[in-house]
Amino acid sequence: MAEHGNGESGAVVTAGEGESNGYAIDNPGLPPHRPRLADVDEKAAKRSERQVATLFLLSIIGTVIFFVGYFAVARMDQFDDYFEGMTALRVQNTLLGVGSALAMLGIGLGVVHWARTLMPDHEIVEDRKPLRKEADRAEAEQIVTDVIDETQIKRRPLLRNTLIAAALLAPLPAVVLFRDLDTSEDFGVERLRHSLWAEGVRLVRDPTGTPIRAADITIGSAMHVIPENLREISGHGERLSEKAKSVVLLMRMNPDDFNEQIPGREDWTHEGIIACSKVCTHVGCPVALYERHTHHLLCPCHQSTFDAAENFKVVFGPAGRPLPQLPITVDNEGFLIARSDFTEPIGPTYWERGQTDPEGDFPA
Ligand code: FES
Repeated sequence: MAEHGNGESGAVVTAGEGESNGYAIDNPGLPPHRPRLADVDEKAAKRSERQVATLFLLSIIGTVIFFVGYFAVARMDQFDDYFEGMTALRVQNTLLGVGSALAMLGIGLGVVHWARTLMPDHEIVEDRKPLRKEADRAEAEQIVTDVIDETQIKRRPLLRNTLIAAALLAPLPAVVLFRDLDTSEDFGVERLRHSLWAEGVRLVRDPTGTPIRAADITIGSAMHVIPENLREISGHGERLSEKAKSVVLLMRMNPDDFNEQIPGREDWTHEGIIACSKVCTHVGCPVALYERHTHHLLCPCHQSTFDAAENFKVVFGPAGRPLPQLPITVDNEGFLIARSDFTEPIGPTYWERGQTDPEGDFPA
């Protein structure tokens, strides 16, 4: 490796010192090296050191803010009052976002500032040469040693210690977020497996809660419905969570328009009335658009399209599986009711989705 200058910060490389090496234009060399303030003034170097350490401390503070947002702010479903719950949710999201941004930015900016102000900035030219063996290995080791020396990490313990602390703490928010994949009963994905739908639960209009007579649904119409037992849930946050899982799209088509149905689902519809989860199986947007002539349901987020005439199978877009169908029938009074809960978890795919349900309701 040939260095221009003596390899120390502040080395001067003279323009025009190169040779032509057979090229038409002489190698102009490198421009003269201009030392930075921190190269020539120890006070400036100390100032830069403090600035870098401050950025690492900012990262540490960001990680702490993240944890405060995650653990100290009450969850939305712990509030009875909707507006208090929403305020808590906003505060929590702000703390999580600001905290993780500061944690990452602090380390990133600190390392960049360190490299720009304190690490040597001399130019290095490395010529091509044939590969050797032991000599190359020794040279590579020397390069690593030089880089460590050039970072000045050994003689600036403040930088080393704040960097180690920031780097150790910064990944912790990700570890905590993975806690949401906990499969225990009250916390985590198990709560996604079941909704409020159950045998005999009436389908009602949202938000009035009016039951729906099968005879009132005209061919070609589509509506958004919720389970009647939703109103029995008292906490506003909990009610919203359950509503998000249970919301259903109901539509009626000519029974002759149905294509071949999945075996076992022949009695899941009532005289052309069919129901499915409104939560898109891609990443969970509400599927909202029904095209009565093609019987296609469209998710506006990424254009996944589902065919209601064929058990809501995916006909276009990134969704990986059909919308879960809700088995329905009518009660003695002619009102639409569910035959059971969904027979598969609603919403986007998640890792544990295919695992055997502890209660044995869903297939593995
Ligand atoms: S969320 Fe529906 S297509 Fe992406």
